Amino acid sequence: MKKTLVTLTAGSLLAASIAASHEGATGIVRERMDGMVAMRDAVRDLTPMMQGQVEYDRDAVIDTAAIIERHAGETMTALFPEGSDDDASYARAEIWQDWATFEAMAMRLELVAGALAEAADNPPGSAMPGQMDNSTMMGGNASMMGGGSSTMMGGGSAMMGGSVAPDPAMLAQMPVDRVFAVAAQACSACHTQFRTERD
Ligand code: HEC
Repeated sequence: MKKTLVTLTAGSLLAASIAASHEGATGIVRERMDGMVAMRDAVRDLTPMMQGQVEYDRDAVIDTAAIIERHAGETMTALFPEGSDDDASYARAEIWQDWATFEAMAMRLELVAGALAEAADNPPGSAMPGQMDNSTMMGGNASMMGGGSSTMMGGGSAMMGGSVAPDPAMLAQMPVDRVFAVAAQACSACHTQFRTERD
């Protein structure tokens, strides 16, 4: 009797921990998924504000930028050691075949997050610097990047690759909602290229 109880308890604990671990991911795969999810949640929380649905809060932008910055760049690439695409992972093998591109995208996200923090002083809808046409940067709305990769992002990925992407100093001068869109595209561009489709 006692033994059965113990077994049952251990069994249900195990089930609970598996459910919480991104369909069985463990170790470094789990760790990078957790980082990605932390960024997703932060971006998701900020989206209504960027769309003007709730009052603008500069500090919330700075907090979100810090969360993204903390999980991007080298912190991110360090969590993708060669061959770490086990069954629980959605990482594509292309990551290691084209490591330079993957790395550049992770670094780019870090830079854009830094620019986002600086742009927190430029509320949504504030004046654009100069005459530059930024319509191509707007892409879509940020909420698209949560789960599945959207077909919409396909077209955006070339832009994020490098040369056409605005530099961080310029981004820092832009209205914050535009910089936010650029950050969201930095996520999506990498997912389009380096993450497999989810069901
Ligand atoms: C340099 C490439 C890259 C960038 C930039 C990037 N991601 Fe990811 N992301 C990935 C890869 C690869 C995976 C799949 C990881 C795995 O399953 O092992 C992933 C997975 C995810 C997941 C799923 C996590 C899970 O529990 O399975 C979410 C959510 C996510 N990313 C959100 C974001 C957000 C939000 C951003 C931007 C703020 C971002 N990502 C930026 C490459 C990137």
